[in-house]
Amino acid sequence: MRMPHYNFGNGPAIVFLHGFPFNRSMWREQTEFLSGHGYRVIAPDLRGLGENVAQTSACESSSSSDHRLKSVPLATMEAMARDVAALMDELKIDSAAICGLSMGCYVAFELIQIFPSRVKALVLCGPRASGPDETEKASREAQAQRVLHEGMGFAVESISKTLLAAATVRDKPDVVARVTEMVLQTDPGGAAAAQRGMAARRDYSSDLANIKVPTLIIAGREDGVRTPADAEFIERGIKESQLLVIDDAGHLMNMEQPHVFNDAMLDFLRTT
Ligand code: MLT
Repeated sequence: MRMPHYNFGNGPAIVFLHGFPFNRSMWREQTEFLSGHGYRVIAPDLRGLGENVAQTSACESSSSSDHRLKSVPLATMEAMARDVAALMDELKIDSAAICGLSMGCYVAFELIQIFPSRVKALVLCGPRASGPDETEKASREAQAQRVLHEGMGFAVESISKTLLAAATVRDKPDVVARVTEMVLQTDPGGAAAAQRGMAARRDYSSDLANIKVPTLIIAGREDGVRTPADAEFIERGIKESQLLVIDDAGHLMNMEQPHVFNDAMLDFLRTT
């Protein structure tokens, strides 16, 4: 099944993997900039998200014991990674630099584990390697149930509280509006499936030592979702990695500080 995706430019390929509950439009500034600098840029909507709603019904059934939720699907990080590899096959891309943000990093960790030869370099934005504990699993299940019963409206609250830096909320109403629109456009079934997929993810900590490709880790200094310790742990774990912390940026640092982000990414890609 074909994933809705951007495919711009010519040159070495970069595949962008969006975060949750977002879609490929979060990479707009990066696709424009990098396709104008000699790269082929691919950005799919991951399973169940963005315009990729048809794939939600292709996800496996969850094993919820709640009879109301039995038919709600589960979109695993591994299934998302396999979708990305299938898209690369379709587009005749043998290997690419992979840039993920948050949930997109979980998918990137799966991709490099399952298909190591297809990943030439990694850019990990707002990443975390550790797996979910029981509290996180319960919280994700509660969020999944809430979104199924109420829709996406309640998720908008977190945008100014935890997702974006204070300066973004104050000075960049266009970014706040774009993020709000992405969240509200997300299909509740797809969001619930992705929440359950994240609750079922592996702990990627022990994968880090096996990652041998050049890796750039990017963190927003005011990220309210990921801690600096998460990024530092990954930097220590991946031998060929470097960490950039962007000021006046939160969890969506590529949208909040696109110029700083794009320049750093271009400098990094030119060294790979
Ligand atoms: C994301 O931005 O993708 C989410 O924060 C991921 C997560 O909930 O772990």
